[in-house]
Amino acid sequence: MIKLDFRRADSTVIGEQNGLNIKQEFENYKERIAEIIADLNKRKDKPEQGLQWMNLGYSEETAWYVKEYAALVQNRFDNILVLGIGGSALGGLAVTHALLRPYWNLLSKEERNGYPRIFFLDNIEPDSMASLLEILDLKKTLVNVITKSGDTAETMAQYMIVKDMLEKELGDDYRKNIVATTDKRTGILRQISEQEGYKTFVVPDDVGGRFSVFSAVGLLPFALVGIDIDEITNGIKDMDLALKNTDIYNNIAAQNALIHFLSDIKNGKNITVMMPYSSRLQYVSDWFVQLWAESLGKGKNLQGENIQTGPTPIKALGATDQHSQMQLFNEGPNNKIINFIRVEEFHKNLEIPKIFEYTGIGYLGGKTMNDLLNAEADSTTASLSDYSRPTVTITLPKIDGYHIAQLLYMLEVQTAIAGALYNVDTFAQPSVEQSRNYIYALMGRAGYEESAKALQQKMSSVL
Ligand code: PA5
Repeated sequence: MIKLDFRRADSTVIGEQNGLNIKQEFENYKERIAEIIADLNKRKDKPEQGLQWMNLGYSEETAWYVKEYAALVQNRFDNILVLGIGGSALGGLAVTHALLRPYWNLLSKEERNGYPRIFFLDNIEPDSMASLLEILDLKKTLVNVITKSGDTAETMAQYMIVKDMLEKELGDDYRKNIVATTDKRTGILRQISEQEGYKTFVVPDDVGGRFSVFSAVGLLPFALVGIDIDEITNGIKDMDLALKNTDIYNNIAAQNALIHFLSDIKNGKNITVMMPYSSRLQYVSDWFVQLWAESLGKGKNLQGENIQTGPTPIKALGATDQHSQMQLFNEGPNNKIINFIRVEEFHKNLEIPKIFEYTGIGYLGGKTMNDLLNAEADSTTASLSDYSRPTVTITLPKIDGYHIAQLLYMLEVQTAIAGALYNVDTFAQPSVEQSRNYIYALMGRAGYEESAKALQQKMSSVL
């Protein structure tokens, strides 16, 4: 199982002004935490609670359909192209980047064991999109268009371009190169998929985008590139079992949620840094940033009062950002809590040759990159403590499907518990919806004429 070490967020290590008396706080909050965990587990099967993501690890049906389809299309495609944005892309990107052999898309087909390359188009910048579409042989590309709402402008614009190109290249057969993941009943993509006869997968009800990585949103791309879905679901289930424990002393998601919440409201640590010491985990930070920001950054509390709350997540990467952001983390405002993610055992052991022995870099010879990375992580942790900065460390025994699933699921539960502590609606995103409506208005969608006029006025008053 993955582990959490929070000793360096404690006042005995970093002082009372910046650290917490964690033992005392666990005592103070143990009943509240037990209540929150029991409540989440009680509500998770009920409709309209936004909690169906807690059941995804148990959906044998989805896993079965995903595996069946992946087996059916295996060998037919050289590329998977995922179209999606936000929660419809970040989980897939994080997990495939972590689990596939690094530089996957540069490997030969044999080196990829016959599985396709995978590309995520999660932005609409025309240069990048056009260039990728010029490179890909669309005949050999399976396009997975993912949008829960089925009408996100960015994703649907991408889909329209790609569909048109596919149709021009493949004629009527183009439909076999498209698979849609969307809501079961509603949305324009559902409607189009039915008219066009695409193969479809479902984003279940009550699973928000940022909590959807273990639905077909993530599982389908994983299976298409040969990632073992069972290993993933086993990781979720084992972590879920551990996190059902209502005792804060035995629940790492609750511990980390409480430490972050109290570090923010008591000690002003309103910035959460996510800093894995592994390039393979770098997009886990992007995924976490969305999860933490969109879930906790809220203008109103559950009683409808204005509160404007929420910690600001920042991503960093060890060791790279020791030479970038660390100066600020150590000496700048003491308003951050830093999450390290460490990996006990890497798949490879890379030895540094014993050369230049009689120079200032001779000490590196004979050591491994693994030793160096660990030493760097240790030294960063120690120096942050020297500067009285709170840190926590999550440790993965190794990077595999089982442990990555545990990590992501633990962070999801942590977010849900933190949302309850902040007293906000974790699963809503009213201002994302507002900016969607502005886009519809500016791009001339029918029904948004009044908003378009109001917006034009607002914009010209600033210009
Ligand atoms: O977490 C969320 O709900 C959002 O970030 C969505 O994932 C994002 O806006 C994309 O939405 P959709 O899947 O409807 O295209």
